[in-house]
Amino acid sequence: MFLVPLREALHQADRRDQTWAVTSILDTTDNVGEASPGIGQGLATMSIPAIDMSRFHSGGPEARRSMAAALASACGKTGFFHVTGHRVERRVILTMREMTAAFFRLPAEEKRALCAAPGDYRGYIPFAAFGNNTRSGEADLYEGFKLHREVEAHDPIREACDLYGPNRWPVRIPGFRRAVLDYWRAMDALSEELLRLFALALGLGEGRLLPCFEEPLTNMTLLHYPPVDRRCAGSGIHPHRDIDAFTIVHPGDVPGLEVLTRDRRWIEVTAPEGALVVNVGNMMELWSGGRFVSAPHRVTPPSGAPRYSFPYFAMPRHDVLVEPLLPRVEGFDRAAVQTGFIVRELYRTNWKSLAQSDPEIDAGTVK
Ligand SMILES: [Fe+2]
Repeated sequence: MFLVPLREALHQADRRDQTWAVTSILDTTDNVGEASPGIGQGLATMSIPAIDMSRFHSGGPEARRSMAAALASACGKTGFFHVTGHRVERRVILTMREMTAAFFRLPAEEKRALCAAPGDYRGYIPFAAFGNNTRSGEADLYEGFKLHREVEAHDPIREACDLYGPNRWPVRIPGFRRAVLDYWRAMDALSEELLRLFALALGLGEGRLLPCFEEPLTNMTLLHYPPVDRRCAGSGIHPHRDIDAFTIVHPGDVPGLEVLTRDRRWIEVTAPEGALVVNVGNMMELWSGGRFVSAPHRVTPPSGAPRYSFPYFAMPRHDVLVEPLLPRVEGFDRAAVQTGFIVRELYRTNWKSLAQSDPEIDAGTVK
């Protein structure tokens, strides 16, 4: 709905510096105005902005600039958008979804044999084991399986940072590892395209962010939200901001993902069939100097069918210091972060029993 005006803006600006169009879009302060009441739930739904990735490959530089302008607009409003026309095969997504469900169907003892630990954040996360990162909240009502970019045990990067390493793989699900790695490759490819667009959307060179993602700490979590009794339900996942650069998630066939808009309304995120949802994380917000929004979001537990999800968290290399690449907008005071430090702090404090080393550290929980 906003693509046409943006195209017009860019057309008018075609003799000007690309930054002009981006800045003029980023300077908008209007809230999302597309919310409408959801049917039977009392919760508003929102069609988040769409980015058609098919033009990334077929449209040339002008098309990419136009896409970047649309991306800048989306990121400056809710920080959520969905991508259509991407090259992620439907088969790869569906297989990933099947494998996620298959993992959580394993007997409890098999899952527990793969349990993650505070010093080794790979593997199974039992139901309700995690809460928010400040120790003040209730348990999150999910079970999970934590995966990281697969790194061999003898890889030299492990000498520099022990957050890297091999994953723990279930052995009794044929095709599980292959499905995860296929999906991961597809996400990596889409992630690179998005990084190029994010850079353009910030008025930077297209390749500006790519070096930050060589040997990245990118990770995924497979999630299972079992249905719960609404009368005593807590959060599927507590309100939080993602600490990464951005997150790509298949919206799934059971609703639950909600985002807090600038005017403080919780809105259910919806996307069309085949689309993938992307949200800006704290690091991209930081790179943008506060122009892009890392929006609070949460998952409400389902009441009927279980919800499965498998978000991909795009995270820079461990030694990347993330700091604004543009002048800060007024009032934006997020502190620069060293990737390895904040990732380690998040992983450690996900366990309900472990406190943050410093309460001022922003590990994503919305207080
Ligand atoms: Fe999140």
